[in-house]
Amino acid sequence: MEALANLNGEVMPLAEVRISALDRGFLFGDAVYEVLRIYEGHAWLEEEHFRRLERSLTAIRISAVDLSRLRRRMRETIAAGPFKDAVVYIQITRGAAPRTHPFPAHAVPLEFLFVQEFLDTYQQARRSGARVITQPDIRWDRCDIKSTNLLANVLAMQAAKEAGSLEALLYLPDGTLTEGTHTSFFGVLEGAVLTAPNSNAILPGITRGLILRLAAQAGIPVREQVLKRSDLAQVSELFLTGTTSEV
Ligand code: PDD
Repeated sequence: MEALANLNGEVMPLAEVRISALDRGFLFGDAVYEVLRIYEGHAWLEEEHFRRLERSLTAIRISAVDLSRLRRRMRETIAAGPFKDAVVYIQITRGAAPRTHPFPAHAVPLEFLFVQEFLDTYQQARRSGARVITQPDIRWDRCDIKSTNLLANVLAMQAAKEAGSLEALLYLPDGTLTEGTHTSFFGVLEGAVLTAPNSNAILPGITRGLILRLAAQAGIPVREQVLKRSDLAQVSELFLTGTTSEV
């Protein structure tokens, strides 16, 4: 099925979307995004994703986005397919305006989303495991914002791909492992499941949060504690979590 977009409330084929070349998302990366998985026509962990979107918008000082309306638009676009097993990409930019760095006085935020059928490229890895590499984390100091500025993630992921790996685990100069390029990451050390605590150094992963809750319910010891590169030789398991990769 053809991907469907919703641009400021109007549903259209994704291929027909036209966005201004002066849009600040395009020129400055002045934008935030979300990715949601649709199972059986329903958005998974929708509330959590919209709460994180609200948090990202507040962090970059984009106001006046009606998130309940955006949520209705998302549901309408899913139903218009109708899509069953799909992925939704949502991006909000500060809007189009003559190019100058400070916030323009009159730009209206662009509210864009699209829904497309999901092609699960992680199925094999979930069954048989995957290789990962490590890469220096050269991103900025606000990785907790789901910003569209993903160049460092793209470069690290390309290095992983060229090394025949599924993901790159990112590390800070002191060896602290933060997260993957598009996944959160967990390690099992001496029987406990460890993952980096939420901070400005990682995205507060929605799947990560679910795994922490499920592990606590199941009585599995979990600790929000960083792993170092030097711990990798000691861990008995590593696993990645993310909206599209699952676990
Ligand atoms: N990536 N860390 C980073 C840097 C991410 O980009 C993502 C998600 C995650 C996992 O978060 P969540 O469980 O909320 O999906 C962690 C999305 C899927 C993407 O960019 O395509």
